[in-house]
Amino acid sequence: MANNKRPETLERITTPELARAFIDEQLAALRAQIGDKKVLLALSGGVDSSVVAALLIKAIGQQLVCVHVNHGLLRKGEPEQVIEVFRNQMDANLIYVDAVDRFLDKLAGVSDPETKRKIIGKEFIDVFAEEAKKLEGIEFLAQGTIYPDILESDGVKAHHNVGGLPEDLQFELVEPVKFLYKDEVRVVGKELGLPDGMVYRQPFPGPGLGVRCVGAITRDRLEALRESDAILREEFAKNGLQGKVWQYFTIVPDFKSTGILNGKRTFDWPVVIRAVNSVDATTATIEEIPYALLHHITKRITSEVPGVNRVLYDLTPKPTGTIEWE
Ligand code: XMP
Repeated sequence: MANNKRPETLERITTPELARAFIDEQLAALRAQIGDKKVLLALSGGVDSSVVAALLIKAIGQQLVCVHVNHGLLRKGEPEQVIEVFRNQMDANLIYVDAVDRFLDKLAGVSDPETKRKIIGKEFIDVFAEEAKKLEGIEFLAQGTIYPDILESDGVKAHHNVGGLPEDLQFELVEPVKFLYKDEVRVVGKELGLPDGMVYRQPFPGPGLGVRCVGAITRDRLEALRESDAILREEFAKNGLQGKVWQYFTIVPDFKSTGILNGKRTFDWPVVIRAVNSVDATTATIEEIPYALLHHITKRITSEVPGVNRVLYDLTPKPTGTIEWE
């Protein structure tokens, strides 16, 4: 890629005014680059791709084609939010692909973490490429590349990223936020009118819930993971921890333990809560969550999530534990 150094003239974007100026400049640049051609974007609903989508909708409207792939490993409410914000509110040209069965079938019985990642990455590219091939007249591919992705192309994120499109799908790249840091992307996203839930989202790995449903993914444990994660996020938001704690989620290991419910013995899954603080994900410390809140979350998860009889709190910093369990 040519020209990958942040221009010295680009002031650090910290205020709505600076975001406004950046947006105006980008709109003009995007229109000049794209003209009346069509642009394709894989829209995950994460901060970076959402900001790129919002910019392009403003710049070229219906010439942008967004593809949202639901691989079944998204958090509760995410596909619905993408459809609501981009199709209903912003009137975007959005293709929603329900690929849940396809991904879960491919992942069935696969327990090795790196193999799981590879399957998710490859399947994602395949689904996206299939959609791209159905479209006519696409000349550009937009991407939510941000500056740390360029700086750390040998680092953690590159290692974890799901990979690129096949060589036969050659598009010119459109990367309007490639010189911005994450905090600047958020300021721009806010100014573009994206909802706070999207703009201030915690980091979420490409393979999604797949790396938190430990071992071979099953639909029952995946649902337990999605529901427990939703309860944790709801309680953190209610108790002022959203935006304060860097990353928090649940994990469902692949073993069962005994429990008791209404006088009867149960044999069900545990849910593990992980809440860490970090600057760049290379190290992480444990967030001290008030005990009363942990008790409350435990009570909610064990009473509301089917198939779960136990809740644990992971006290391990990084190192020695990685942030994710796989
Ligand atoms: P670990 O588990 O290595 O995670 O301490 C560090 C950060 O990277 C995220 N992560 C991933 N992100 N694809 C991604 O896009 C992945 O495969 C992946 N694995 C971990 C993790 O959520 C944390 O923020």
